[in-house]
Amino acid sequence: MRQKEITSLLNDMSLEEKIGQLVQLSGEFFSANDISLGPIQKLGISQQIVNLAGSALNVVGARVTREVQKKQMQMQPHHIPMLFMSDIIYGYKTILPIPLGLGATWDLDKVEKAFSNAAAEAAAAGNHVAFAPMVDVARDARWGRILESPGEDPFLNAKFAQFMVNGLQKNISNKCGQIACVKHFAAYGAVEGGKEYNSVDLSLSNLYQNYLPPYKAAVKAGCGMVMTSLTSLNGVPVTANKELLTDILRKKWGFTGIVISDYASIYELIKHGFVSDEVQAGKAALEAGVDIDMKSPCYANGLKDLVTDGRLDENKINQAVLRILNLKNKLGLFEDPFFGASEEKENECILTVEKRGLARQLSEEAIVLLKNKNNILPLKQDQNIALIGPYAKKGTLIGMWAIHGSTADTVTISEGLKKYIPNLKVCSGTDLQRDRKLLDNLGFLSKEDIAKNIASEDEELKNNQEALKVAASSDIVIMAMGEETYEDGEASSKTDLRLAQNQRNLIDQIAKLGKKIILVLINGRPLVLSDVADKVDAIVEAWFPGTEGGNAIANVIFGKYNPSGRLTVDFPYASGAEPLYYNHLATGRPENGSQHIGRFVSKYIDCPQGALYPFGFGLSYGKVKYNSMELSASRITVSDQLKVTVNLENQSDFTINETVQLYIHDEVASVVQPVKRLIDFKKVELKPRKLVKVIFKVTSNQLTFFDNHGNEKIEPGRFAIMAGPNSRDLISKEIDLIG
Ligand code: GLC
Repeated sequence: MRQKEITSLLNDMSLEEKIGQLVQLSGEFFSANDISLGPIQKLGISQQIVNLAGSALNVVGARVTREVQKKQMQMQPHHIPMLFMSDIIYGYKTILPIPLGLGATWDLDKVEKAFSNAAAEAAAAGNHVAFAPMVDVARDARWGRILESPGEDPFLNAKFAQFMVNGLQKNISNKCGQIACVKHFAAYGAVEGGKEYNSVDLSLSNLYQNYLPPYKAAVKAGCGMVMTSLTSLNGVPVTANKELLTDILRKKWGFTGIVISDYASIYELIKHGFVSDEVQAGKAALEAGVDIDMKSPCYANGLKDLVTDGRLDENKINQAVLRILNLKNKLGLFEDPFFGASEEKENECILTVEKRGLARQLSEEAIVLLKNKNNILPLKQDQNIALIGPYAKKGTLIGMWAIHGSTADTVTISEGLKKYIPNLKVCSGTDLQRDRKLLDNLGFLSKEDIAKNIASEDEELKNNQEALKVAASSDIVIMAMGEETYEDGEASSKTDLRLAQNQRNLIDQIAKLGKKIILVLINGRPLVLSDVADKVDAIVEAWFPGTEGGNAIANVIFGKYNPSGRLTVDFPYASGAEPLYYNHLATGRPENGSQHIGRFVSKYIDCPQGALYPFGFGLSYGKVKYNSMELSASRITVSDQLKVTVNLENQSDFTINETVQLYIHDEVASVVQPVKRLIDFKKVELKPRKLVKVIFKVTSNQLTFFDNHGNEKIEPGRFAIMAGPNSRDLISKEIDLIG
């Protein structure tokens, strides 16, 4: 439609119709399947409003969306098509590694391509908006949703935000794309104590410098939608935070798209203690800048009276409706309400060889080799190897948010390894999780579900004994351990980051047999590995690797792919050391370089400092030496460009994909700056025995910081420029920025 037709449509709509456009409901309201995740509460809304609802949550599949669209349009007085929106966070049917694994690839281009594949699958299934990318900076591994984020670094998360948005949206014009809905604006990842849904309290300099950049990058990349966080920020719930949703998002950053609340978060303004009832909640959210009310009764039940009583300016509603109509128009839904979706197109588009191939490449690149004692890896096919562990045959390698994926499509670890060793010995050895208290605490597993998940004591003993027998007859044991799918993702905060006790027991028992152990981890967060790292010979961090996980793990273990993954989060020595992040401040009593020695420095007395495996860390087969670094100048002005040359040498016979990382430290500033922060990186292929120069260009806009008014600043002074394979092992030189 032309813009003037949209405007005349808006002018012709009744107030009820307009309010309907601001309401999003899940499948059961449209007699479709309800696979949405979230609190179940009775909405108490009228059938009339259901008939006028402008969008649906997590209703997908070409057949279902076409049916619901047809029925809903017939009931709409102006036959306005619906928007279908869903959580397609790391794949629709072809499931990629979780974003924490995608982050570990440091491969922006491949991730962009994979997100355009995911968008094509979702579009063929009739979906229009993907509730992705999730780019919350996550510094606390106790928070289960760290799974969904590319990691702890604002610069890297911003890069992934940009490429993921591009991937999702670039093919919208030919109905093979999705509107990207970046989330959760803002700073959900900073929940206090890593406790789910907890409050967030940040200084403005911290908010602007460490938490806002990824959302800003998504907006600059043109994302069509922003989802509010469920949390409060500095005492004001985000869903009613005008400063965030209007002043920063729209006025400062120029965002013109749609703001959608998170699941029931408008209603939850009451629970926050910000408003007293649903009517006030709706008013507060709309006036703050929220256009669509996801799965709460507040807009549906309250807006009409607010307008007719003169307590709410109808123009606020008109602006929100116009944004929604414009988005529907951008998708061409007025001309083709089905967005080209059909069962035939859907079946042709999903899980193709090409899409699975790219997913496998990303699963391989996501794998981080954390330990490889005496270069035990890669293995050889003629070695006497066994696969033991609860994840050996599990299809649940796809993680908690792969809500449209199917475990039946997954290549298991056993299947992947059997392509190298057809008669591989395999057994589970123990359950994934035997802690009934923890499973009870999840709050959604029935007693029957728990019984299904936990073998009887006799069965457990039998499994243990079988595993020890298999291990005794082998030289090398690959142990597939990790977390249950529901131990990670939303509503999965934990205080103990170690592997489950039963898994640690089995590792101990097999280590005592004197066997070489390759520990393969299937997990969605940094784990505490301090108590197992010395008992195993290699650690392969595979995350939830997705549909092609088993193939990727096997290809890395047998050397078909040389592991290149580099962590985007710090792995702590102990759970109590969280939150843990590399770009921390020095403090007045840094552990190194303080005038106080030993005792009176910033540290824990019962745990080593820093990370067991730090941000940026990962091993490859073979060795890269960072010989030297040259700077084009030792003094620069704000208008100069500094050239940084890093000289590398591949001292092995392996081809190595190396991620060269560039960090800076602003040594003196009016708001103290982190001891280092990532400002650039390059992923380069190093042929065997080759010397390579990697060149970076640094400009002053990479040297700025934010003050406690949210202003971006730059101050002359001394900067350390650092390059290396991770955030710990760095070559450093200094420059002076002159005023
Ligand atoms: C959930 C999540 C959000 C998701 C939404 C819809 O509660 O917080 O990330 O997109 O509800 O499922």
